[in-house]
Amino acid sequence: MGHGKLRKFAENETFHCLLQPSAEEVLADGYFNLADHPVKGRWIEQMFGGHEGPIVLELGCGKGEYTLELARRNPDKNYIGVDIKGARLWRGAKTATEEGLCNVAFLRTRIEFITAFFGPDEVSEIWLTFSDPQLRASENKRLSSAMFLERYRHFLRPGGIIHLKTDSRFLFEYTRSVATVNGLPILVETTDLYSDGQGHGTAPSGVRFAHPTIPSERSPRFRAAGGTSLRGSTIPLPAEVREVQTFYETMFLEMGLPITYMEFCPDHDGPYLNPRDPEDFDSAYWRTAEGPRRSLNHQ
Ligand SMILES: C[S@@+](CC[C@H](N)C(=O)[O-])C[C@H]1O[C@@H](n2cnc3c(N)ncnc32)[C@H](O)[C@@H]1O
Repeated sequence: MGHGKLRKFAENETFHCLLQPSAEEVLADGYFNLADHPVKGRWIEQMFGGHEGPIVLELGCGKGEYTLELARRNPDKNYIGVDIKGARLWRGAKTATEEGLCNVAFLRTRIEFITAFFGPDEVSEIWLTFSDPQLRASENKRLSSAMFLERYRHFLRPGGIIHLKTDSRFLFEYTRSVATVNGLPILVETTDLYSDGQGHGTAPSGVRFAHPTIPSERSPRFRAAGGTSLRGSTIPLPAEVREVQTFYETMFLEMGLPITYMEFCPDHDGPYLNPRDPEDFDSAYWRTAEGPRRSLNHQ
């Protein structure tokens, strides 16, 4: 390991906003019976100094660009970036510390262990930013698979939202299929976020509101828009969807890849289903359509 990384790991120990539980703590009773971490259900008191407000997660946050910028823009909410890589989290935690951001925390853990850290209804929204599409791996590794949705349901409040922003058409289409086969309302979707070039004043081409019947009390976005049917109308995307660009997004934009975006509500009774392949999601087709992402070696 290089000196730079060692220095970052040592500094990580000093950041109050960074929680780095050992895997042993979580796995004390085995992989199928994760031990609750003491912070579970107590993030507001233990990590946010009693600052009440909805909690928003960024899963696979890398250097935490979304976590940091959303926290700056929305001081009434609390943001937690989750990733396994200490050197990337160092960047986010260092910036949060230098800027004195009191509504930011970072959690170093495998997302597979996420239920050990959050109690029922503790989280309001989840951002999945440029998650690894896991093109060749088991779908259970995709952060929008039925297996992960099952985990998120332990702590996401009713009406909570999942945001997926990705260059990967494969992951976008996979996630759309997961939503469809489970009847989950897709609130917003676009296969080319920047295609209209008009900033955030109007919905870009490709955005549609697929489930206008979602009850208004289930979605703050719908409530803000008047809480009525939105068929045929457009509501502005939050500015941050276009204005905040992560490390990976910048790289993919430079490669000329379109960026996709989707918001869906995972409320669901009964077990989540994975899409059938190829009837619901033709993985072989979307794998071949993936483009340059396929050759990137960063999974
Ligand atoms: C492609 S990078 C994207 C990082 C950042 N969101 C961005 O857009 O720049 C994916 C990130 O997810 C993290 N990651 C992937 N699988 C994970 C898992 N199972 N548990 C924790 N972190 C994971 C990786 O460490 C990596 O930082």
